[in-house]
This record gives sequence, C-alpha cells and structure tokens, in this order.
Amino acid sequence: MKKNQVIINADIEKGTINKNIYGHFAEHLGRGIYEGLWVGEESPIPNTNGIRNDVLEALKKLDIPVLRWPGGCFADEYHWKDGIGPRENRKRMVNTHWGGVVENNHFGTHEFFMLCEMLGAEPYISGNVGSGSVQEMSEWVEYMTFDGESPMANWRKENGKEKPWKLKYFGVGNENWGCGGNMTPEYYADLYRRYQTYVRNYGDNKIYRIAGGPNVDDYNWTEVLMKKAANLMDGLSVHYYVHPGGFENKGQAVDFSEAEWDVTMQKTMYMDELITRHGTIMDKYDPDKRIGMIVDEWGAWYDVEPGTNPGFLYQQNTIRDAVVAGAHFNIFHQHNDRVQMANIAQMVNVIQAMILTESDKMILTPTYHVFEMFKVHQDAQRVSLHLNIDTVKENGYSYPQVTASASKAKDGTLNISLCNLDKAVSTTLDIDLRGLEFSNVTGRILTSGEMNAKNTFENPDHVKPQAFKGFAREGSSLKVELPSKSVVVLTVR
Ligand code: AHR
Repeated sequence: MKKNQVIINADIEKGTINKNIYGHFAEHLGRGIYEGLWVGEESPIPNTNGIRNDVLEALKKLDIPVLRWPGGCFADEYHWKDGIGPRENRKRMVNTHWGGVVENNHFGTHEFFMLCEMLGAEPYISGNVGSGSVQEMSEWVEYMTFDGESPMANWRKENGKEKPWKLKYFGVGNENWGCGGNMTPEYYADLYRRYQTYVRNYGDNKIYRIAGGPNVDDYNWTEVLMKKAANLMDGLSVHYYVHPGGFENKGQAVDFSEAEWDVTMQKTMYMDELITRHGTIMDKYDPDKRIGMIVDEWGAWYDVEPGTNPGFLYQQNTIRDAVVAGAHFNIFHQHNDRVQMANIAQMVNVIQAMILTESDKMILTPTYHVFEMFKVHQDAQRVSLHLNIDTVKENGYSYPQVTASASKAKDGTLNISLCNLDKAVSTTLDIDLRGLEFSNVTGRILTSGEMNAKNTFENPDHVKPQAFKGFAREGSSLKVELPSKSVVVLTVR
C-alpha cells in the first residue's frame, strides 16, 4: 500500500457495529443528575415531569441507545428503596464518594425509567454488591420486572406503576476491585456467581448479566472471572480513562501544552491494546464470542475546572476531546466482534460530558458533536478498511496520525469516519473505494484552528460541525485534505 492510502472494500462485511457502543453513563455525581438532567417539577427551568427540556431535546438528537445508572462508585452504596415512593418522604443521605453532599433521592428508579423512555434508550442498571445484600438486589429486579402478585410488584403498583418495566441490562456491582468493595478477583468471582443467581428472569423479561471487570490492564482479573464465571455472564465490563498526567494530577482540560495533547492521543490509542489483550483472554474461555466486552466507562478525565468542587468532576471540553471520542469509536468499531457496548463517562456536567449546564443555560460540547456525527454507524455493517499512515512522534510520545473506519447502513449508504490526531499537521489521504458504485459524496467536519478550542456559555457555537468540501473524486477514489485536529464523516451514496 502507498503511504497515506486508505483502501475500503465496501463489499467485504465485518459484522454489525452494535449501536450500544454509543451508550452513555449518568451517575449520582456532582451536577450530573441533579441540575444536569433532573430539576424537579417545581423548577423555573422548563421541564417535563422534572427532566429539563433543553437537555432532553439535545440528547434526543443523539439517538442514545442505552443509559447506565446509578453509578459508578455510587452504585455500590445505593439502596434503591430510598429512591421510591412520594418524593417528600424519601431519605436524605450523604453522597460520600462524590463531594459529601446531600442526596435527596428525588431521582430514583421511576424517574430513571421515565428518562429512558423519553430518550428512547434501553435502561442499564448497576446493582449494589459492595454494600448491598443479595436480597436487596433480587428485590430490585422483582420490583422492576415482575408482572404478577408479589411484595415488590405490589409495592411498585402502589407507587403508580401497574405494569413492570422491561429491563435488559443489569450490572452485578461496579469496580469491585476498588470503590465497589476492594475485593480480590477470586472473592468477587464467587460473589458474582452468588448474586447473579437471584437476578431472575421474570416472565419474558430476559436479563443480560454483566460482571464487574478489570481495572485497566489487570489481565489477571479477567482471567479469574472468565475461568470461574464465564458460563454465568453475558457481558464483562472493562473501564479505562485517559488521564494525560496520571490519576493524581490528571492535567488541565483547557490550558494544556502540546506535550499533553500528545500524551492524550497516545493514551487514547492504548484502548486498542487493552481491548485486544482482554479480548484474547476472553477468547480462551469463550471462543465463540458469546460474552460481550462492555466498556461501560471511558473518556478523557482531567482536573476539575478551577474553583469547582473537586468531588464534582466538572471539566470543560475541547476539540482535543472530540478527537479522543472519534478515535475511541474507530477502535470500538474495529473490535465489533467482541465490544458489544460502551458508555462514555458521563452524560452531563461530569468528566467528558456531552452537555454542560449553568442554571437555565446549556452548551453542547465538541464531544456531543462527535456522537451526533457518528450515530450513522449505529447498527451498521462495518466494512473492510486498510490504512497506511505515518506515526506522529513528538515530545516522547507516539500515535498514528489518522484513524478511520467505515460502515454500510441498511440503505447501502457508506459512512467513513476519519480522525486526524495530529495537533498541527494536515494530511492528504487517497481513499480507494472498492466494491461499490457511487454518484454522490458529502462530508461534515469538526475542527478548529486552536488545539484547545471550546464552547462557552458566552460563545456556545465556537466548535460545531461544518460542511466539509476538502475532497475531490478521481475515478473510484477520493483525495481528501484532512486538517490537523479534525474529525470528519464522509457519506458516500
Ligand atoms: O466516572 C467516575 C468514576 O470513575 C466512577 O464512579 C467509577 O466507577 C470510576 O472509577
């Protein structure tokens, strides 16, 4: 292959890109749920049954397939019974993990399912293993999904919900190697076996059980879980965050150096190695790939915005984050045979958020725009793509200059997503399109002149997608001028 060449064989299909790769995560953390999504029915902020309208309308445009809740670390100290019944009677507790603030439990099970219905998203509930009992978990499932007479189903009916909800995804604990109980993999694997036994399938509600997976590169955790419990799980979670400076001093979200850009991109590409290596272990016990790898927390996590509560994990979002998101999606697509779901952390006001709010105002982040541009890949057929590209080597870090993937939608449209990870250098790509006839190509681009360009409440549309014209057709090829720090989607018909 020639340098800077991309060969796409549109007639060589590589399996479906599960739409759940475009999933989200909303935890009781900082202003993620309260203020970000839930303002309550009495709020002067326009809302529908307590969910703020502006945020809801913006999120609807992303076609969110699945939403994970209530944590995160919060999940392993969440007691669901505190969050049902009349709101004024709900228990007020301390959110010990996240800022030590009062959690009034106004957003509970009923409100979560209502939000999912409004978004058209599948609910994904994380149960409490760390500080909860088997009984508590099993009763929650009964409360949500049992259609008949039972103490929990009756209680749900008393609380206004006659018919059960449909619940597909259920996580048995979260980060049980850390905030979810500091367990060894052997101990957790045994607990997983036990807890999941009582996560019942009632009627025709079939639950997809997700076991708590490793911390980043803890391959032993994956090995032990797969060895001891593979037959009892449908999914195994994996968490990985990009912290440019490491966990303690993560680095700034906006005022970062060129070297921090480079380390961010190198660490982004590490996701590929993690999926490959955890996947290789999973292959040993599950060669048919029945069990999904569920990357239910990912994203770029920086130091909080100066002056904000350190426990609230509120950070700004720049074009760097857009490139991080696009590159992650290209990696997830590549591993579509094993990665069945991914959930960005988090939806609103927390870590790599789609939306930031300030009282009644909201802005869409560069990351939001990537989710919107890439939604064309949801449930599409990935097709064969080969790329021969330079490696960026700067400031002691290295990463590919460009990542790419292509998929075919049900109507035959081909969508090609391209990310230029380089902060300064554009490139010319030759895209050789094989195995399809086409007559029309359109494009959209998200980019900026500055590597830390962001949207603010004063200037909310500074970074937003534009029509992309930087390509020319030459026979069955496209010559594409891909600017530095850009995310592009080409649509070929
Ligand atoms: O997303 C923030 C936190 O990161 C989650 O609560 C936890 O699971 C992870 O460590």
